[in-house]
Amino acid sequence: MTEEQMNVTVICGSLRKESYNRKLLDLMKAEFPEHWEVEEAFLHHIPLYHADVEEAGTPEAVVELKRAMMRADGVIIVTPEYNNGMPGVVKNALDWASSPPAHSALTHRAFALAGATPGGGGTALSQYQIRQTLTAAEAYVMPGPKMLVAKVAGKMNKELGTLEDEKTTQHAKKFVQAFNSWMHRFDG
Ligand SMILES: Cc1cc2nc3c(=O)[nH]c(=O)nc-3n(C[C@H](O)[C@H](O)[C@H](O)COP(=O)(O)O)c2cc1C
Repeated sequence: MTEEQMNVTVICGSLRKESYNRKLLDLMKAEFPEHWEVEEAFLHHIPLYHADVEEAGTPEAVVELKRAMMRADGVIIVTPEYNNGMPGVVKNALDWASSPPAHSALTHRAFALAGATPGGGGTALSQYQIRQTLTAAEAYVMPGPKMLVAKVAGKMNKELGTLEDEKTTQHAKKFVQAFNSWMHRFDG
């Protein structure tokens, strides 16, 4: 049986070119099923949240971010941890996306969180904060399996500059399948 198309938007919470989280996203993308129609939303040009600016007219980069989220059956955020929390660019983007509440791109939408770090914690605290913010906005955050990639520097193919790790790949497969089921829970 062919599965119905699911629209998935992915977001990387690191802006840097050689980001480990971008490399994790690349590894995960290779496990995405064919019936997922995937779009990436970028945070590079999202201005700081400013209610006066919003009142004067939502900035184009934010309109684009919200459009990419609203078309999606599910959104996957792959992000670093900064100072035991989420990066400011991620919080800022989620604040914009949640506003105004009547037109929130987060409410009643499925989300999943993933992250990689050279440290030992696997971005658990960053994900915990994002979960809190998304829950406040009445999003549906997948409870598990969790995608926490610790000690990522040792999992790199140094020649190719790609993340290559069998355990991470196997876990990404499970994570992607679980998110497929998670999105279906909120169909219709
Ligand atoms: C301001 C700052 C704070 C950081 N705090 C943490 C932290 O709390 N936990 C952690 O695991 N790594 C922390 N790091 C290290 C990041 O995990 C590391 O820089 C990582 O490479 C960033 O992700 P990226 O490679 O996708 O850009 C921090 C880095 C910066 C710049």
